[in-house]
Amino acid sequence: MQKLIIKGKKKLTGTISISGSKNATLPILAASILTNNVKLSNVPLVKDIYTMLDLLKFIGIKFRIIKDKKSIEFKKTNKPINTFAPYRLVKTMRAGVLVLGPLLTKYKKAKVSLPGGCAIGSRPVDLHLFALKKLGANIKIKNGYIIAKARNGLTGAKINFPSVSVGATENAILAAYAAKGKTTILNSAIEPEIIDLINFLRKLGSKIKVVNRKITIIGNGSSNKKVNHTIIFDRIEAGTYLIAGALLGKKISIKKTEPKVLKCEIDMLKKMGVKILVKNKNIFISKCKKLKKINISTKPYPGFPTDLQAQLMVLMTQADGMSKIKENIFENRFMHIPELRRMGAKIKIRNKTAHIFGTSSLNGAEVMATDLRASVSLVLAGLIAENRTIINRIYHLDRGYESLETKLKKCNAEIKRV
Ligand code: UD1
Repeated sequence: MQKLIIKGKKKLTGTISISGSKNATLPILAASILTNNVKLSNVPLVKDIYTMLDLLKFIGIKFRIIKDKKSIEFKKTNKPINTFAPYRLVKTMRAGVLVLGPLLTKYKKAKVSLPGGCAIGSRPVDLHLFALKKLGANIKIKNGYIIAKARNGLTGAKINFPSVSVGATENAILAAYAAKGKTTILNSAIEPEIIDLINFLRKLGSKIKVVNRKITIIGNGSSNKKVNHTIIFDRIEAGTYLIAGALLGKKISIKKTEPKVLKCEIDMLKKMGVKILVKNKNIFISKCKKLKKINISTKPYPGFPTDLQAQLMVLMTQADGMSKIKENIFENRFMHIPELRRMGAKIKIRNKTAHIFGTSSLNGAEVMATDLRASVSLVLAGLIAENRTIINRIYHLDRGYESLETKLKKCNAEIKRV
């Protein structure tokens, strides 16, 4: 099994180019079921994307990956479509459930494996099913599968989500695209990745309006139009490297972002005293002399993202005094804390809140990655720790970070994969 070995304390200097967003690409790939003749660019070629492509291939979608251009071209096919998503292709990546909405709306039936829980929590799909039922789907759960039917097709409706969910909003939008009539989604998630999906569907000719947390979609979408779409930048990857810059940057520049999308993260880093300069699509960041403590709560966008919580926690170990993080999105997302403690971090958990006591000097250790974002927090910890850190189970990291070692090495970090 592969490991990462990091020798800490190296100052970082250089430029990091941010890849396309994994979380924006996944629902757009699911949308390829609704159309053909699409070319996607700026696709991050990470494990989760290949898993989704395996699923699409199984369903019968035809595509070509052009690796050096980070692009995927979808082709028209006359092959029959398989409206089935098996357990083996959904269990490793929950976003597989996003094929449910497109299959059901276009082919009037779908059988998709329940994704099950994962390290960060139980992660149910009741809100996905709630939305599809509102659009007229008949849904049963049998033998671990969601069996959905809509004999006469889906019909537009009002979907008022009891709580905000990224995936359920995406499934609802994808299903409403080809439903008859108008769908209104209330209390929807409005993450930039959802806006990217909406912009993609608009290019296909769909009429979609977003006002605050209300999304209106005029259905009946079906398109053979040739569409080119460039995936938006990965704001979580950008946030991760901003934190690396705040920890060790002599002068780091982060390229290919849209800084206004990162407003919450940039404001929060500035509050901690980090030096940041924004110029067009570039952000320049360097370590400051003394970091200030801060308290944050994770929230749906535009709030602070749960996907950056573990990384920020490492920065907080270097701040003066006690910082706090309240995790509101997932019930089990502090799995990185025991590993950070083994490296010398002083962190206590009280209910949903982590109390981080700084300043702590971290020491290299052999640690275990538990999920995608936890893994990268251990990389950040390794970069600031004395001596050597060995990170096991880095397959989690490969699910979502494109060329992590190459990007860090280019900035002078000592990191290698063995
Ligand atoms: C997406 C992101 C993930 C991010 C998360 C929150 C992708 C591929 N993944 O995950 O990186 O951490 O948003 O920003 O885009 N919930 C229910 N019932 C449901 C669905 C969700 O109770 O049917 C709960 C979840 O357990 C969680 C909360 O709602 O507590 C938010 O989850 P959700 O926004 O759905 O996350 P994902 O779409 O799975």
